[in-house]
Amino acid sequence: MTVREALAEGAVALERAECPSPEVDPEWLLAHVLGRRRSELHTAGGELTAPELDRYRALVARRVSREPLAYVLGEWGFRRLTLVVDPRVLIPRPETESVVERCLGLLRGVEAPTVLDIGAGSGAIALAIADERPDAWIVATDVSASALEVAEENHRRAAVNGLVRFVHGDLLAGERGPFDLVVSNPPYVAPDELDGLEPELLHEPREALIGEGDHEAVARAALDALRPGGALVLEVADVRARSVGDVLRRLGYKDVLITDDLAGRERVVDGRRQ
Ligand SMILES: C[S@@+](CC[C@H](N)C(=O)[O-])C[C@H]1O[C@@H](n2cnc3c(N)ncnc32)[C@H](O)[C@@H]1O
Repeated sequence: MTVREALAEGAVALERAECPSPEVDPEWLLAHVLGRRRSELHTAGGELTAPELDRYRALVARRVSREPLAYVLGEWGFRRLTLVVDPRVLIPRPETESVVERCLGLLRGVEAPTVLDIGAGSGAIALAIADERPDAWIVATDVSASALEVAEENHRRAAVNGLVRFVHGDLLAGERGPFDLVVSNPPYVAPDELDGLEPELLHEPREALIGEGDHEAVARAALDALRPGGALVLEVADVRARSVGDVLRRLGYKDVLITDDLAGRERVVDGRRQ
């Protein structure tokens, strides 16, 4: 079977399974099997070997079952990093890259900044900040020990210069700071919202997705860990940005600001401790 025929076969299978991107996903999967870039596939001549075709078809079958593309590939890009991902961790989303952008903006001018990331997951936020601010000192907590195994693996693989320490525990997990910045992307899907969402989400850890009131819990805890004038940065569902902003003001945060993600949705809320 040629590359072109394999891609067409995969696209038909994914279209039947109602996958959202049936043309593109087979390219990712075949490129992964062949160890090439997606852009190189269309000029690649020759036939697939039998083991290559078997591996490719096995990956397509996983995608047909609506397993997320990132888990099937086993890795996913986040800012300048490629992170290992599997069902122990939430797949880092593009909107979270905007959260990192906001953190970097707030840390500009702060020398050797101290940062606390609450809910590390794959380590995406903590490792991206450590990558882009090599002078940073970062602590990242998570209640999920299995998520932290993935974060530690990503830490070993990513050659980041900033110092990162992962800690198992709830919210601050006993860390006292004071920190220049606390960041968190807490779980924020309401339990009754899950049914209407894409089946891919059912593969992700429930404790990383389902949450109500977590933003307030994080904002309260952060008051004990931030230095005066230190910043709290939260990722939110766009429909809740305003109400989370109100929560921050009620808790006494000043300079509360809502920032859009790259798709123009209100996804990042931040404020400063008095
Ligand atoms: C939405 S995921 C975010 C993962 C990662 N920071 C990202 O942005 O891709 C939320 C993470 O918070 C963790 N978590 C949930 N409640 C927590 C708590 N009370 N304290 C610390 N971590 C918590 C979950 O285990 C999960 O890994």
